[in-house]
Amino acid sequence: MDTRCRVCSGTVREFIDLGRQPTANGFLLPSEVAGEFFFRLAVGACQECRMVQLLEEVPQELRYHAGYRYHASGSAAHRSHFENDAKRFLRTELTGPDPFIVEIGCNDGVMLSTISTAGVRHLGVEPSGDVADLARAKGVRVLSAFFDEQTAADIRIRHGVADVVFGANTICHIAHIASVFRGIDQLLGPNGVFVFEEPYLGTIIEQMAFDQIYDEHVFYFSVTSVKEMAARFGFELVDAERIPLHGGEIRYTIARPATRAPSESLAELLAQEQAGKLSEEQTFAQFGSNVARIRDDLVTLLTDLRAEGKRVVGYGAPGKSSTVTNYCGIGPDLVPFVCDSTPSKQGHLIPGSHLPVRPPSEFSDPYPDYALLFAWNHSKEIMAKEEDFRASGGKWIRYVPEVEVL
Ligand code: SAH
Ligand code: TMP
Ligand code: ZN
Repeated sequence: MDTRCRVCSGTVREFIDLGRQPTANGFLLPSEVAGEFFFRLAVGACQECRMVQLLEEVPQELRYHAGYRYHASGSAAHRSHFENDAKRFLRTELTGPDPFIVEIGCNDGVMLSTISTAGVRHLGVEPSGDVADLARAKGVRVLSAFFDEQTAADIRIRHGVADVVFGANTICHIAHIASVFRGIDQLLGPNGVFVFEEPYLGTIIEQMAFDQIYDEHVFYFSVTSVKEMAARFGFELVDAERIPLHGGEIRYTIARPATRAPSESLAELLAQEQAGKLSEEQTFAQFGSNVARIRDDLVTLLTDLRAEGKRVVGYGAPGKSSTVTNYCGIGPDLVPFVCDSTPSKQGHLIPGSHLPVRPPSEFSDPYPDYALLFAWNHSKEIMAKEEDFRASGGKWIRYVPEVEVL
């Protein structure tokens, strides 16, 4: 089934269908299972501008609300990454008289708390109530709203233009992307920059990270498609740089046309994408068939382990774990529970597949024979923390880029 592109209204051609799926962060109590929401999780590429995107989308109010459970400050790696981002802005873009930075999707204040401590004028825009309150508790100023053209116009009236508009793991979540860019046009000062850091299509394809595909990720950006998108909305992509978050992302810098010189790194990444045929149909088709193979391998491994009487426990319950378990049909019969350090996920079920989430203290009580690593992007931090598991004879299972027992 083809649909219209959210950037250019071109035809979006489907290349992967991950089946009937819930909202990936819709962790629920056993008593809430009855009314669970499902939609068809399928991805395609625009035949005109090459933007890769979901075919069907979930209304934003069902994804972002007071019960939204993703806390950006949950990982030490994320805390230090965003502290560095903040320090960099303080050093570079925020040095004029009374500078102003706006963050779209500031979540629990992981980035803006450093800006606030430095006494620099800022505003987070965050629709999810509980995480917004966590940010406020850190001294961050937060507007409870979805960012769009209207919100941007209101901010400009109250606060004036911004030197920086920032977003991390948020811009690819916003289906009304044209309204976002009209908002940026209202809000950004003449020499301002719109900087966003998002999962990279190149990484997803290279690492076979199909579990990055879920309801919240409406777009799967490449440097090629973001350059095209910026131009269509009256801006210019001036820099793109690889960063290590979530297994490999890109930080894009967009400015008003001809206000900044395009970087070398941008040209290099564009050339790499072309040489690697990143935006071509054959690449997408290959990805689709590789993903189906991973599913078959993982289900076979788990079924075999169960037949041998081995105990397998999941480790980490990120949004990604919902995609994998629902696509592969992994239920509590194969993986009886998953450990996760986020208190608000504990006692709940992973959406759709209904694997129970328990505190990490239950991991060692007693250790399982195998641990299926859903939070594979944090594998260093987790394996270091759980050294004793391996010492006790336990083995880790990874499933990207292929199924592997470590
Ligand atoms: N920036 C953090 C959080 C990313 S999670 C990080 O990189 O880890 C995405 C956040 O974007 C959520 O907190 C969600 O509530 C928020 N969000 C979703 N749609 C939004 C919109 N239209 N405007 C502003 N924030 C939005
Ligand atoms: P993320 O990949 O979206 O950052 O989510 C990672 C999930 O893994 C999150 O729910 C927290 C969990 N987690 C642990 O349980 N233990 C850990 O040591 C780390 C780093 C994350
Ligand atoms: Zn398009």
